[in-house]
Amino acid sequence: MPQPTTHPRLLWRDVTVFDGLETLPEPMAVIVEGQQIAMLAPMHGVDAAMFDDCREMARGGVMTPGLVDCHTHLVFGGGRAEEFEARLEGASYEEIARRGGGILSTVSATRAASEEALCEAARPRLQALIDDGVTTVEIKSGYGLSVADELKMLRVARRLGETLPVRVVTTLLGAHALPPEYQGNSDGYIDLICEEMIPAAAAEGLADAVDVFCETIAFSVAQCERVFRAAEAHGLPLKAHAEQLSNLGGSAMAARHGALSADHIEYLDQAGIEALREAGSVAVILPGAFHTLRETQAPPIAALREAGVPMAVATDANPGSSPLFMPTLMLNLACTLFRLTPREALAGMTAYGAQALGLGQYGRLREGAPADLCLWHLDSPAELAYAVQPGRLQQRLFKGELTHG
Ligand code: NIG
Ligand code: FE
Repeated sequence: MPQPTTHPRLLWRDVTVFDGLETLPEPMAVIVEGQQIAMLAPMHGVDAAMFDDCREMARGGVMTPGLVDCHTHLVFGGGRAEEFEARLEGASYEEIARRGGGILSTVSATRAASEEALCEAARPRLQALIDDGVTTVEIKSGYGLSVADELKMLRVARRLGETLPVRVVTTLLGAHALPPEYQGNSDGYIDLICEEMIPAAAAEGLADAVDVFCETIAFSVAQCERVFRAAEAHGLPLKAHAEQLSNLGGSAMAARHGALSADHIEYLDQAGIEALREAGSVAVILPGAFHTLRETQAPPIAALREAGVPMAVATDANPGSSPLFMPTLMLNLACTLFRLTPREALAGMTAYGAQALGLGQYGRLREGAPADLCLWHLDSPAELAYAVQPGRLQQRLFKGELTHG
């Protein structure tokens, strides 16, 4: 008689496995025990007696690590449909930002909203990501732009992670835009971020990383570097929105500070690519913002590939530049708009997405890895990027628990 165990052993047979980096060549058997992947082995080699004490979950299909969306802004108040219309009539993202719309219109709505209201508004957005296979998600602040309102956003992000079956990683993005009360005094606002916001977020354990928006409509390289020094003083990892609309050299500066990632990077040059490579930073590709803003300059994918810089793919889910809450759509857009291969796109939302968060143990499907898994109604992993079709998620496991299917 098999010994009763506290955790049933969960078994999948004959699955095609994408392990976070590549598709394994043969049909596999996967066993999960507790919160871990206990076995990953080719079907042909396993002794079927091993399966006797297992609960069979499914046969066939494609199995991937749970998806990792490493760049989102999904906590926010209000919406920006009028701005969408204004852009369609010819206004640019920069013009709208310069006349106080854009990010700042979301700042007003976010400041006015209670923690409860922000949480309720964000929940269905996060649920949409979960229903599309996400098990780890990063959520940034950046629409509060005062100490109290940035902390409020981070608390909402933490709370979402406590109430939904998903791992939430938080990032403080105080340096996202200049708040109206600091008009003409951007260095004064950087002082506030360095002297009050980062220390407060660190003291309350609310931020897992610190991000900046390095751009002509946001902050200079020197200002972003000051923010990074303050973050380093509190032991917080770094990320940067850089080279999205122009090339200021923000990615190279971030790399010099050992940043986890440089994100957007449409205007990244060869020097920036070299800097990322040397630092081991991840290039985060955000095709949703490129698509929504109808940009024309694509990130230098071929050169990044050539240099061996790891590329992650994320939704950038936000009310302005990427109101797109569907991670698998991003896999498709990364291929069609930027010519990533389906394999690269999928690695970008699993292994390299996790690396961009400093969580290399996630986003991988291998023995001993955490049991965050998705089983898809598909014949091959490439189909996940090839077609845009909700409803293909057959099962989702978060920390070894079946949460879908
Ligand atoms: O990642 N680039 C800056 N920040 C966001 C946009 C935020 C917004 O427009 O509300 C981004 O695209
Ligand atoms: Fe962003």
